[in-house]
Amino acid sequence: MRIAISGKGGTGKTTLSAALAGCYAVNGRKVLAIDADPDGNLANAIGIPQTLAAQIVPVSSMKKLIEERTGTSKDVSGFFKLNPVVGDLLDKFGVLFNGIRFLSIGTVEKGAGGCMCPANILLRNLIQYLLLDKDEGVLIMDMDAGIEHLGRATVRCVNALVVVVEPGQRSVQTARSVERLARDIGIKDILVVCNKIRSPHEYSILTNSLQGLKILGYIPYNEELIEQDLLGKGIVDNPKLRIDIMKIKTALERQVSLTDEQGQTLSLPIQYP
Ligand SMILES: Nc1ncnc2c1ncn2[C@@H]1O[C@H](COP(=O)(O)OP(=O)(O)O)[C@@H](O)[C@H]1O
Ligand SMILES: [Mg+2]
Repeated sequence: MRIAISGKGGTGKTTLSAALAGCYAVNGRKVLAIDADPDGNLANAIGIPQTLAAQIVPVSSMKKLIEERTGTSKDVSGFFKLNPVVGDLLDKFGVLFNGIRFLSIGTVEKGAGGCMCPANILLRNLIQYLLLDKDEGVLIMDMDAGIEHLGRATVRCVNALVVVVEPGQRSVQTARSVERLARDIGIKDILVVCNKIRSPHEYSILTNSLQGLKILGYIPYNEELIEQDLLGKGIVDNPKLRIDIMKIKTALERQVSLTDEQGQTLSLPIQYP
């Protein structure tokens, strides 16, 4: 299971990423949580304590390592290796907390001619290596709305692209642009989670504006999450959220198992809730 989570800023991508990671970890699954949002704070939502968080080094900031592995730190004009060795980087830069292995990608700067700079080549290789690892683990990647910054091949390796929306047309618009980007890349299945829902009325208007997209379910508005964020605490063990996320997780697994390797839906999408 390799899930990428995208959507407009503030909709709840990080909350969903952390909560899903927590759900899988308590079920005893091997979980790898990747923070691929340039403005990331997934470690905080997972509840990684400060002492451990201080050890987190975003892979993109490791200039020396990038130079070593790719053969240069220069741009396209220089020569560099297109397939740097990456297999050991998770152990070097990841931290382990409550059964969740966490890795931060950091800021990936997009060059004028695309992403063909050594730092990006290394990151892309790393992400593809992690995504293609076919063991029993679950990989959850917290991204921003510009899903292309990691490259097409990378995003195509995920088997579910989940877009988070909240009541409001602005986040729906972002979901639509993520959808377009995803279609361009070749991902057909885009799954939506509606977050911060306060009433059936809100949910009904929101889902009406999401026609053509598959809705996995919703997370009700949860005052406790605001309080926990206010206090800088993780949200993984919030009991209400845990129950809501379990439903999303079930719907997600059902949807993914209905989808083949090329992202073709094998059967009719589920109706939920
Ligand atoms: N279901 C919810 N109910 C209430 N507040 C929420 C909910 N989900 C997220 N939030 C709050 O919304 C804010 C943004 O959430 P976050 O997960 O950081 O969004 P993103 O990663 O998309 O920017 C946070 O303060 C978070 O606590
Ligand atoms: Mg976030």
